[in-house]
Amino acid sequence: MSSGIPGPQGSSLARLSAFHRDPLRLFRTLTEEWGPRVRFRMGPWYFVLLAEPEAAGWVLSHHAQGFVKGPGLDNKNPLIGRGLLTEEGPRWANQRRRMAPIFKPANVTMMRPWLDQTVTAWCQRQVSGETLDLQASMLELSLAMALQTLFADDNPSVNFLEDIGRHVTWIMEHFYRRTRSVWRFPYHIPGFNRRYHSHARRLASAVHSLKPRPRPFRVVWDALAPEPDSRLDEMLTLIIAGFETTGHAVSWALDELGRHPLWQEQVYQESLQESWPSPATHPSTEAVLKESLRLYPPVWLLSRKPTEALTHQDLTLKPDDFVLISPWLLHRQPAIFAAADEFRPERWLQNPHQPYAFIPFVGGPRRCIGEHLAMAEGMLAISRIIQQFHVESHGARELYPGLTLSSLKPMRARLTRRP
Ligand code: HEM
Repeated sequence: MSSGIPGPQGSSLARLSAFHRDPLRLFRTLTEEWGPRVRFRMGPWYFVLLAEPEAAGWVLSHHAQGFVKGPGLDNKNPLIGRGLLTEEGPRWANQRRRMAPIFKPANVTMMRPWLDQTVTAWCQRQVSGETLDLQASMLELSLAMALQTLFADDNPSVNFLEDIGRHVTWIMEHFYRRTRSVWRFPYHIPGFNRRYHSHARRLASAVHSLKPRPRPFRVVWDALAPEPDSRLDEMLTLIIAGFETTGHAVSWALDELGRHPLWQEQVYQESLQESWPSPATHPSTEAVLKESLRLYPPVWLLSRKPTEALTHQDLTLKPDDFVLISPWLLHRQPAIFAAADEFRPERWLQNPHQPYAFIPFVGGPRRCIGEHLAMAEGMLAISRIIQQFHVESHGARELYPGLTLSSLKPMRARLTRRP
């Protein structure tokens, strides 16, 4: 082993099984025992877990050119392998340049009426006084927002959304299980991964059926690759990257508001303004969303691999090290955030935080391309729903770190229409 980074020796198989049982607890235990940099073995692999903002910033941003993405969604994936999430090198850089304009502020502003229409339609469908599962409902809403803003000319029907939602959720869970499994049967060998292929086929054909908006409103279609196969990968990447992440972020935020009446009242007061929800006019709404992203970052784990041996100050990495950076772990460091496990949105109205201590969208060249759209969707959904409904949460929650961070138990909440 290289370099002076402390860490346990012990059985690597026991650690692999602890990771499979509860990775968040494993990370927390390791850093409590060994400090914010830990090197350990799991199965045949070496990992370096970094829970220091400065080191995270170096890996993700300042020296990002020295790393590629670690295991996770890989670029041999037949569904999104040619999409932005998984590509590397010049193909990634080209695609990023081509797609960046989609998410520039003027275009996100152009998408506002469609976002508003989608949230309004969702609110109209709700029956006052009913208890619903916030998580399932917000996934439905965020999928509708993604399709409506990015691709669709028609209002997608609820059945169509449920169909796409079911396939994407199944496929994401499959990807997640695959990243953790030693048995990864290749996709191209006939007979293997049959259920995956069936979901992927039906998802692809549903996405194919979307009708593009007319110009000048088709910024997304115009930015996609012209070749049909690559175009489909790119569309699926945007759906897969933007749907569960935003849906879970909003459901955690609403669930917390349903437990914190004073914050709910503040968000309600802000929602009565005519203006579009923005950080300047709706600071408490933004603080609630940020605090939820801190406590429950949808992307809870990032992995990177150095392309060669690298040294930064007293940190040395070998080419066979996998670097793990967990936004969840970083966001809950007591040395950085006071009362780190508590929901305290006021912290976002006070002091600025240390760079790279809060990284729900990462940073550096591979930062989330949809960050501004995600924040616009999140703030709008929270503001409009709280404007129309009083939310009371009474579900038990249990963190489930799948491909995104969700709750294993339903997030039950009663929504009562305000007079
Ligand atoms: C709250 C919502 C969201 C969160 C927390 C989030 C978070 C992230 C994170 C952490 C990454 C970096 C992953 C890595 O480096 O390994 C990422 C990348 C990405 N996100 Fe998001 N995301 C959100 C919403 C969206 C939306 C709405 C879209 C698009 C519609 C989107 C599209 C993408 C794409 C395409 C990438 C890959 C960018 C690249 O590698 O160049 N995301 N996102």
